[in-house]
Amino acid sequence: MRVARPLIVALCLLAGKPGAALSQATTSSPPPGGPKKSEGPFLVKPYLQWGDSTAREGTRSLAVLWHTGDDAKPWSVEFQPGADQPWRPAEAPTPRRIAVPGIPPHRLYRAILKNLVPGARFSYRLSQAGQPVFQSDGRAPKAAAAAYRFVAFGDCGAGTPEQASIAYRAYREQPDFVLITGDIVYERGRISEYRDKFWPVYNADEASPAQGAPLLRSTVFLAAPGNHDIATRDLERYPDGLAYFLYWDQPLNGPPGRVGGAKVPALKGPEANRRAFLDAAGPAYPRMANFSFDYGNAHWMVLDSNPYVDWHDPDLRAWIERDLASARHATWRFVTFHHPGFNSAKEHFEQQQMRMMAEVFENGGVDVVFSGHVHNYQRTVPLRFVPENDAAGKPVRVANRVGGRWTLDTAFDGRTHTHPSGVIYLVTGAGGNHLYNPEQQDDHASWQSFTHKFISKIHSLTVADVDGPRLTIRQVAADGQELDNFTIEKR
Ligand SMILES: [Fe+2]
Repeated sequence: MRVARPLIVALCLLAGKPGAALSQATTSSPPPGGPKKSEGPFLVKPYLQWGDSTAREGTRSLAVLWHTGDDAKPWSVEFQPGADQPWRPAEAPTPRRIAVPGIPPHRLYRAILKNLVPGARFSYRLSQAGQPVFQSDGRAPKAAAAAYRFVAFGDCGAGTPEQASIAYRAYREQPDFVLITGDIVYERGRISEYRDKFWPVYNADEASPAQGAPLLRSTVFLAAPGNHDIATRDLERYPDGLAYFLYWDQPLNGPPGRVGGAKVPALKGPEANRRAFLDAAGPAYPRMANFSFDYGNAHWMVLDSNPYVDWHDPDLRAWIERDLASARHATWRFVTFHHPGFNSAKEHFEQQQMRMMAEVFENGGVDVVFSGHVHNYQRTVPLRFVPENDAAGKPVRVANRVGGRWTLDTAFDGRTHTHPSGVIYLVTGAGGNHLYNPEQQDDHASWQSFTHKFISKIHSLTVADVDGPRLTIRQVAADGQELDNFTIEKR
């Protein structure tokens, strides 16, 4: 049985009383991008991130980040690793000044909560100039033996009512972490767009289907960058773009990227704009586009699947092969990237470039691939794919189409036959933006033979429960309606 989430306490210390912010109200909250309440000393209230340090320290640390104006009042952070443990100070928060054209200069602060107790709920509080101004709680990442839940959705930060209702559903599911499968914020992943369509929804003070939920402050978010997040490197047209590299704190353990190389397009725009971005991004750019991490008994790989990436690049392929080989100890191997290789929707059907990596995933023992980009939900049967190769042994790619042969495990049904032969590919891109191809949901003849489920008439999210060798995945609508359900078991 899952433990109920303790109530979130936010900013109420200012008023000298504990505050419970859980609300079912659906009518009084402003829509995303609408009028905003005072955020006190914050431009963006604290939010939990996996952090690069976690990659170095296993499951025992997390990062808390927040944004303020361009002042230098001293901040301090304390945290309580467990209910019975004393409060302890975190190391002094480190600021990074973000000063890009078109946005008033502001500061991003980062503090690392170290030596957490795996799986335990913890509390943390922030003080400015000695005055407490914010408190919340969270859960430390779980150890390998523990059962855990994550939710996944993509194509979400569109400022729609459906984005808020899916966020609220995610909150109600009480996940241990949230995974965004790309296209985090529309239209260009800009700072200004994060302020309208990301923070107000996923870090709302109150939980409601109309507004969203206080998820970010209490639950770790991880994300794969999509095309709307990082494909445009034009800092002349969008000088506050590429905010993914500014505001997320994810492992920097991926393959180093050379600007102009196989996976890093050159930045465009005036030198001053490029310099401002690079100064603000620090070491996150461009490295944070690809990374891996372990959670519980699973190994995760996160890839940038934008079409500019050269999947023939030997360094990139070698990194992926090495990373998966090093994860043989893990019970589960999951991969996430934005552009699905196996998609039956007419929308984006031709963007099949990730099929070129299917054999690498199969050889690396990948169980499930989570993607977005296509704004609906799709599940393949377990499959293996052999691309059609040219005389040089490279897959034939015409534009982004990749031909080949697939072998389908049609015996797997996720109920009585739960041992798949091959990789299951999920599209979970119905997190907020308008849906793609609703007319195909009931038109089975329009599905590719690898597609088992196609839900495109309703927004939804993926809820995954991992319990040792058993993985149960449900696709759930905003009202809790179950749209799909299957189980995978390890022998
Ligand atoms: Fe996309």
